[in-house]
Amino acid sequence: MTLNQLFPLETDPKTGEPFLRLRKHPNVILTPMRWEDAPHFVPIFNDPRVYQWLMRTPFPYAHKDAEDWLQIAKPKSDALLQELLDAQGSDKLKTIDGCPVPSIREVKEDGTQVYIGNITFGRCMHPELIDTDTIDHEHAEEKKAANDALQVGDPKIIYSIGDYLDPKYHGQGIMTDALDTILHEWAIPRMNVRRILTGAFIGNVGSVRVFQKNGFKMLRTVDEFAVVRGTMRGLHVLEWRADEDPV
Ligand SMILES: CC(C)(COP(=O)(O)OP(=O)(O)OC[C@H]1O[C@@H](n2cnc3c(N)ncnc32)[C@H](O)[C@@H]1OP(=O)(O)O)[C@@H](O)C(=O)NCCC(=O)NCCS
Repeated sequence: MTLNQLFPLETDPKTGEPFLRLRKHPNVILTPMRWEDAPHFVPIFNDPRVYQWLMRTPFPYAHKDAEDWLQIAKPKSDALLQELLDAQGSDKLKTIDGCPVPSIREVKEDGTQVYIGNITFGRCMHPELIDTDTIDHEHAEEKKAANDALQVGDPKIIYSIGDYLDPKYHGQGIMTDALDTILHEWAIPRMNVRRILTGAFIGNVGSVRVFQKNGFKMLRTVDEFAVVRGTMRGLHVLEWRADEDPV
């Protein structure tokens, strides 16, 4: 029997794009990245309710920053989709190293879609936090190399999550739902994600809640983690393990 390698993604009959509908917000979907999203990044990343919690985005954030980011991220994301399409016809669902539908969009009543954020799974972005009680800069590079070298689908891979939402949509349960949906409908069954290590700056109550509501445990708090835009920031370190997932 041949299987649809995009399962459980649906296909938009108008655009042909795959998408994943959130479990509790049927008017919110996850889709591939689009070149035309660039102008929508700019107000989001210039808003202090977003940028103060992010480590790597430039501030002030210009249209060129958005274009540069899309040039890096979109081909990687699209390559995941292509990998799945290339495997169509196979009788076994392919395990893959990411989710090809990271862009969060609201679907309006008239069918138009509004870009509202992103949720991305990737190999651990904080190798200095792996298997240590503090911050292990000394072995970070070798831990990263070892994690990156694991074969796709290896249950030992440690993943991280990056996410943000347009502030107009904060506090409506959307990111809690997006994480629940992507975790259970894609990351576990299609990526074989078994362990996630992630961080949120001290004070980012909303982000910590999103993770905790999805079964992440607070591992520790590092008071002095990194200087970001001139200020020393502390980090809450959270972990999710599949064998402790309540669902
Ligand atoms: C963090 C973020 C993604 C949360 O998304 P969201 O859709 O607003 O979160 P939810 O609505 O699902 O809220 C989850 C919980 O957090 C609480 N919460 C959300 N934002 C909060 C805030 N600013 N302060 C206090 N609690 C907050 C909600 O009340 C809810 O808790 P409850 O169910 O116990 O009431 C969003 O605020 C954001 O984009 N922040 C800027 C970027 C960022 O911080 N990214 C994460 C980096 S680690």
